[in-house]
Amino acid sequence: MFKIIERTMIVPNLHLLVVHAPDVVQEMQPGQFVIVHSGEGAERIPLTAADWDKETGYLTIVFMEVGTSTNKLAELKPGDVIPTVVGPLGRPAAIENFGTVICIGGCFGMGSIYPVVKALKEKGNTVITVMEGRSKNLLYWEDKLSKYSDRLIKITRDGSYGYKGHIKKADDLIREIGIVPDRVIANGCTTLSYKTSKEYAHYDIPVIVTLNTIMIDGTGMCGVCRCSVDGKMKFACVDGPHFDGRLVDWEELSKRRQQYIGEEAFLVHHSGCGGR
Ligand code: FES
Repeated sequence: MFKIIERTMIVPNLHLLVVHAPDVVQEMQPGQFVIVHSGEGAERIPLTAADWDKETGYLTIVFMEVGTSTNKLAELKPGDVIPTVVGPLGRPAAIENFGTVICIGGCFGMGSIYPVVKALKEKGNTVITVMEGRSKNLLYWEDKLSKYSDRLIKITRDGSYGYKGHIKKADDLIREIGIVPDRVIANGCTTLSYKTSKEYAHYDIPVIVTLNTIMIDGTGMCGVCRCSVDGKMKFACVDGPHFDGRLVDWEELSKRRQQYIGEEAFLVHHSGCGGR
């Protein structure tokens, strides 16, 4: 069993979960994920590690409360225990001295991109980090991200903080100030990953996104995380979850992600969770 150390809502609908998982964090690398199962009636959910401490054995995750299983996670309190935290899973993010790297984080991705930003900076890259959200109250970890970023660009769609716009605004700014990136990395929802892949394709450099597919085992056994990249079938859990977004079949990915929406709506309605 895995003990919950902390669970707090850091911004509306996004929760920070700190769980004691000493064996899991020993081998954890930036970009890897864990499968969390909070107990009977809940699904197994893949969640990217946002931070970890090998000495204490604490693993930090940022997750969005979006359905019945994440509702259950959002109800956990310090001292509670959950039966499953499996990992580290997936291939680590590529960390090399690429030159100048733009790291974009939106939603839960502002948390999960933090280890990547930190590792890239430690490798000697110039790191331009972009935080993107609907409004000021949805941005978090500015202090943590700025510590390892040469420049931190904040973008809100309503203009309440930083620049007004979407991730295209960051691209306009980056071009305006004459930065030529060698790599773009985006963490966040499928829309953010898709838009980043399109908006940054003109640089003709890798635009690495973390695919959020449905997963069950996370070890290449079930096939539920299947996706198409560059015309080839891949399993996001073992071949990814990081892929060049310019080569992803986004239409197929979006259809596969929606296949359980009816069941999820039914569960939310009948579970008493209230679909928060
Ligand atoms: Fe089962 Fe990837 S989650 S094969």
